Amino acid sequence: MNVLGINYFYHDSTACLVVDGRIAVAIEEERLTRDKHTTKFPRRAIARCLSEAGLSAADIDAIAVSIKPFKDWSAKVAYGLARPRSLKPFAMNEVAGGGLKQYHLRNWYRETWPEGGPQIHYVPHHTAHAVGTFLVSPYESAAILSIDGAGEWATSFLGEGTGTKVTRLAESYFPNSMGVFYEAPTEFCGFKANYDEGKTMGLAPFGDPEVYREAVDRMLTVRPDGAMVLDTSYFGFHGAPRCAPKFIAAFGNGRNGDGFEANHLNVAAAFQAVLEDKALELCAVLREKTQSRNLIIAGGVALNSVMNGRIVREAGFDDIYVMPAAGDNGTAIGAAIYVYNVVLGQPRVSVHDDPYLGTSYSDEYIDGVIRAAKLVAERHDDIASTVARLLADGRIVGWFQGRMEIGPRALGNRSILANPTLPGMKDKVNAEVKHREAFRPFAPSVQVEATGTYFDVIGESPFMLKVCPVRPEMWDRLPAITHVDGSARLHTVSRDTNPLFYDLIGKFGELTGTPVVLNTSFNIMGEPIVESPEQAMRCFFTTGIDALAMGSYLITKDPGAS
Ligand SMILES: [Fe+2]
Repeated sequence: MNVLGINYFYHDSTACLVVDGRIAVAIEEERLTRDKHTTKFPRRAIARCLSEAGLSAADIDAIAVSIKPFKDWSAKVAYGLARPRSLKPFAMNEVAGGGLKQYHLRNWYRETWPEGGPQIHYVPHHTAHAVGTFLVSPYESAAILSIDGAGEWATSFLGEGTGTKVTRLAESYFPNSMGVFYEAPTEFCGFKANYDEGKTMGLAPFGDPEVYREAVDRMLTVRPDGAMVLDTSYFGFHGAPRCAPKFIAAFGNGRNGDGFEANHLNVAAAFQAVLEDKALELCAVLREKTQSRNLIIAGGVALNSVMNGRIVREAGFDDIYVMPAAGDNGTAIGAAIYVYNVVLGQPRVSVHDDPYLGTSYSDEYIDGVIRAAKLVAERHDDIASTVARLLADGRIVGWFQGRMEIGPRALGNRSILANPTLPGMKDKVNAEVKHREAFRPFAPSVQVEATGTYFDVIGESPFMLKVCPVRPEMWDRLPAITHVDGSARLHTVSRDTNPLFYDLIGKFGELTGTPVVLNTSFNIMGEPIVESPEQAMRCFFTTGIDALAMGSYLITKDPGAS
C-alpha cells in the first residue's frame, strides 16, 4: 500500500512516500527548485519521490495532506470579526491565500488523475506533527508535545500515545502561540521572523538573560491544564511588525544595521531562557498527566535544539524523540503515516531513525558530470581515508555521498567538513565558505561511542537536534565547534545509520586523536542544501572549499592537496 504525504500549506513544502508503512522517500521542494523554505505546491518533489521509489501515480493508494482547510472555521470568523482593524489582512490570508493553496492542490490532482484518483485525506496540522511523530518514534507509549507558530488554529498539542492511539490532553489556539512569541525577538534582532529563529538561538548566549527575564516571563503563561496564554499587546499580527509599540517601549529599538547593541543580545537571551522555561512547564504538565518515561517533541519550535537539550537534562523523561524534519516539512511524513496507521488501520512498522530519505547519485552519474565539465578527478577506493587526511591537514572538504537528508540539518551526506581542533577554523569556514554571521557556531559530528569523552549529553543526538555542554576540559581541544557558552549542537554518528561517515570520522580520529569533525550544511547562507552533483560543484567552485568528495571521486583546487 502506497501513501503519498504532502505538506503544501505553510512553508517548507515537502512530499514523501510511505510504502507498506515504511518511509521510502521524502524530499523537500526547496532542494529541487532552489527556493529556500518554499511555500509552493511540491510538484517536483512529488514527481521525484515517485521516480526514486520506482512508482507512478497509478500506484498511489491514498493521499495525505497535513492540513484540514475548514477546521476551526467558526473560531476564525469570531476572531476576525472581533478585530475590525486587522480583518482585511486576516481575511486575505485565510480566504484568498487558503483558497489559492487548495486551487493548486486540486489542479495538480485533476492533471494527474483526469478520470479520478485516490482519496485525499486531510489531516489536522498538529495531528500530522504530533501523532505522526509518535507513530514513527521508537516508543510504544509516550507523552507528546507539539509546538509551532500555528496550524489551522491550534498552536500546540499535548497528548499521550499508546500503540496507534493518541489521546489529546490540551491544545492552545492562535494567537496564544509559542512560535509567535519567539518570532518577535527574531525580528527585533534584525533577522527574518518565521525563518531565522535559529540565529536568535545562536545569539542568545552573548546576552544576559536576567536583564529582561521577568518582563518576558510575564508575556507567556502556561496554565495548569497545559494551555498557553500570550499577552498579545506586545506582539504584531497579520502583516504588522512582530514587535508591537509596547514591545519597543519595553526593550528599546530593534537592530538596524550590522552591529548588535546590548539590548538586542539581552532580548535574545531572555526570550530563549523563557522559551525553555515555558517548555519545561509544559513538560511538567505532561509528566503529571501521563506518568510516561518517553517524550515526543514535534513542531517548528522543536528545532530549538538548546530547548531540547534542557528538556533532556531537566524535564525528568528518560529520553526524547524529535524527528529530523521537526518543522512543517516533517508533516508530510506525519500525515502519511497517520493515514496509514490510524485512518487505514494498519499496524505500526516504521521507526524513523534514518534521515537519509532523499535522492542519490551513482558513481557513474557523478563521473559523467565531472567529465562533462572537463574537470580532472581522482577515483579513490577508500574515499573516507583520503578525506580524513585532508581534514587533518586543515582543508575544508565538500562531502557529497549517498541519499540526501530530510530536514534542515546536514547529517553527513550533504555536508561541508573541517577540522574542529584547529583554532581559527570556525572563522575560516565562515569567511571563506558559508559567508554567514560570525557569531553563529558550527556543529560537531562524533562517533557515538566517543560522545561521553567530549560531550555531556543524555542519550544520542542522531539528528543534530540537541544542544549539550562540551566537557570543559575539551573546550581547548575543540575550539571550532565550542560555542561561547561552552555548548555544541551535537550530532552523534553510528555505524548502523551512516557507515561511510562513521568510517571517515574514525579515520580522522586515528590521525588526530579526536574522532570529531566540524560539520556544516553543504550550502552558502540563504540557499538550500545542495541536492545534486551539479549543485555541489557550483558551490565548490564559488566558495573557498578546498576539495570536493562526491561518491568515490575527489576534485581538488590545489593539485598538491590530495
Ligand atoms: Fe507546523
